[in-house]
Amino acid sequence: MRPLTSLKFFRMSLSTKVLPVNRDSIAFKNDFPVFTDKDTESNLRRAAEEIKKPGVVVAFPTETVYGLGGSALSDESVTAIYLAKNRPADNPLIVHVSSIEQIQRLILTKLHTIPKVYDNLIQRFWPGPLTILLPLEEGSPILELVTAGQNTVGVRMPDHPVARALIALSDTPLAAPSANASTRPSPTLASHVLHDLDGKIPYILDGGACSVGVESSVVDGLVSPPMLLRPGGLTVEDIRKYGEGQWADVILAKKTAGKTEAVRTPGMKYRHYSPSAKVVLFIGCGEGRKAVSQYVAKLEGSPKIAILRAAKFASSDELGVSGAVERSMGSTSAEVAHNLFRDLREVDEMNVDLILVEGVDESGDGLAVMNRLSKAAFETITGVE
Ligand code: TXA
Ligand code: MG
Repeated sequence: MRPLTSLKFFRMSLSTKVLPVNRDSIAFKNDFPVFTDKDTESNLRRAAEEIKKPGVVVAFPTETVYGLGGSALSDESVTAIYLAKNRPADNPLIVHVSSIEQIQRLILTKLHTIPKVYDNLIQRFWPGPLTILLPLEEGSPILELVTAGQNTVGVRMPDHPVARALIALSDTPLAAPSANASTRPSPTLASHVLHDLDGKIPYILDGGACSVGVESSVVDGLVSPPMLLRPGGLTVEDIRKYGEGQWADVILAKKTAGKTEAVRTPGMKYRHYSPSAKVVLFIGCGEGRKAVSQYVAKLEGSPKIAILRAAKFASSDELGVSGAVERSMGSTSAEVAHNLFRDLREVDEMNVDLILVEGVDESGDGLAVMNRLSKAAFETITGVE
């Protein structure tokens, strides 16, 4: 594969423009956007014109997290994505569409259709936080740089009016990873994108906070039994229930891959979702009274501590860590998913040394939350109650 460093010097001194858009002013007629707000329309049309150009990338909100989009048909654009994020080139990108019709016209060749195995899931959950793997047939215009040489391409139709409008107006399949610097928590606000990529990308569409807060679920229905490669905004329970057929037996890909292992789920082998502070994850520790006080008692010096609570942890005062920065992520797993990356980033900005995080149950939305947290964690404390 071509080295990615060749374009680097072009990308050093961009000024990043933030283009505000109002998601509520966009409606869809036959998969095409109609606008009630002039500024939103002109910013989206401008972004759509720009993103079609080779080498131009635009960050945009989706319902899961902000994505960094560029044409999946342009070498320069995909290269610019990898460079801006400093992403390893063997981790493939998801291609985003705004309609089923675009998949057939822009991604598949005339000879192929979307495999039947996905019918129920697509019907029920698209647009939405679900990415499916399609076979990459000979003749598909999707670049090898997008798929990192795999014989499949991950495709998703996001359920965010800004994302859908951008894709529909540009009529371009958009390769878009999460718009964070590689290894950092994914962005759920435009300010997170600016923090990581200011000066490295030309445009950010600011459409407010992402509703789901964790990335899409990635499924592979091309193997038997089908696999959940990455748990995300769509729960495995819903995939089993509504996918029907083989999906009742969907298996979860294992959480980590060794550095030299052949990468079926490339995202797995890299450090991920990490703030600068060390994350300590507490699993099954009830209100945290014993586990946290024991942990804190062993610390040397006086590190600055943040506590991220879910449903059970007591307040920092009750945990014996008075003076800690404290955030309540929410009492349901869906709330925790929505707030997780934002809260990790927010306390990290306050220059804490340690972030003590209450884990959640792995059912429902909790599976995606715990997948992110276990990758972010430097240390895990289990079952101290
Ligand atoms: O919600 C999302 O999926 C967000 C928004 C922007 O759509 N995107 C996102 O992209 O999370 P990214 O690049 O951060 O994560 C994509 C994941 C990676 O773990 C990658 O390894 C996996 O999808 N992936 C993509 N294409 C694949 C393929 N052909 N085979 C296996 N895994 C693939
Ligand atoms: Mg990512």
